[in-house]
Amino acid sequence: MTQNFSNKVVVVTGGTDGIGRALVDLLLAEGAKVATCGRNHDKLYALQSEYPSYPLHTIVADVSNENDCRHFIESTIKMFGGIDVLINNAGISMRGLMKDTSVDVIRKVMEINFFGAVYCTKYALNSIIERKGTIVGVSSIAGYRGLPGRSGYSASKFALQGWLEALRTELSEDGVHVMWVCPGFTSSNIRNAALTHQGEQQGESPMEEGKLMSAETCAQHILKAIKDKKRTLVLTRTGKQTIFMQKFFPGLADKLVRKFYFKDGKLIK
Ligand SMILES: NC(=O)c1ccc[n+]([C@@H]2O[C@H](COP(=O)([O-])OP(=O)(O)OC[C@H]3O[C@@H](n4cnc5c(N)ncnc54)[C@H](OP(=O)(O)O)[C@@H]3O)[C@@H](O)[C@H]2O)c1
Repeated sequence: MTQNFSNKVVVVTGGTDGIGRALVDLLLAEGAKVATCGRNHDKLYALQSEYPSYPLHTIVADVSNENDCRHFIESTIKMFGGIDVLINNAGISMRGLMKDTSVDVIRKVMEINFFGAVYCTKYALNSIIERKGTIVGVSSIAGYRGLPGRSGYSASKFALQGWLEALRTELSEDGVHVMWVCPGFTSSNIRNAALTHQGEQQGESPMEEGKLMSAETCAQHILKAIKDKKRTLVLTRTGKQTIFMQKFFPGLADKLVRKFYFKDGKLIK
């Protein structure tokens, strides 16, 4: 059954850029009460300033820090009375072959993309159960098919999906809806912010960002999937083809993925 977001309390982690920012804009336009976080105070301040008279709660919180997540969620419940929908969106990517990449990079990506979702969900869970609400993970095609140069990112998204699947089964008689969404390549800041093998920000995108799906379109699909209570959502034709190929022709998928990401033995994307 389709629900709408009017007066619902929706938490979006990482709402200052890209897909999270687009989700915040659309949710406020639909009449939701929105809480969001990020690490950068100035970006949160700019967001809050754009919506002076809207029910928007913004707070500096690094989702890889359990206490930050606890404070973010508790302050949201205090401000809005509870949580109906939690969208675990905050995430970072990486780029580096494992032979060159520091273990700290893998750990950092896991801490943000996986443990960030665990912490926020843990502190929001009682309220979501009480309201028979929804828990969403923003995953990736990399959660179905490991991608070279993004081994830690792929691991974090596989972990996220496995954890959410377990949670869905645990909560199946509580009326809580658990789902994950897998955007394909979407125009955002993610590739600029991606960590290099040494843990620095990449500072550029190897993709033609203008040719990718827009963050707004991606956010529209995500909100529709939440309303329709989908189990999962896979976006973009390339994304769907990759998952199909991986399931039925994994050897061929290895070759095609290698061809897409490498040229003359070098990682090019
Ligand atoms: N864009 C794509 O092509 C694509 C494809 C598949 C999946 N996804 C997934 O979609 C989600 C959103 O990505 P995006 O493309 O919109 O990226 P983005 O443009 O880089 O935005 C990421 C958002 O998350 C926040 N964030 C990052 N690390 C955080 C942390 N430790 N604590 C709190 N907030 C944090 C960022 O703010 P601060 O940096 O200020 O903290 C920003 O608001 C991610 O989970 C990503 O894996 C994206």
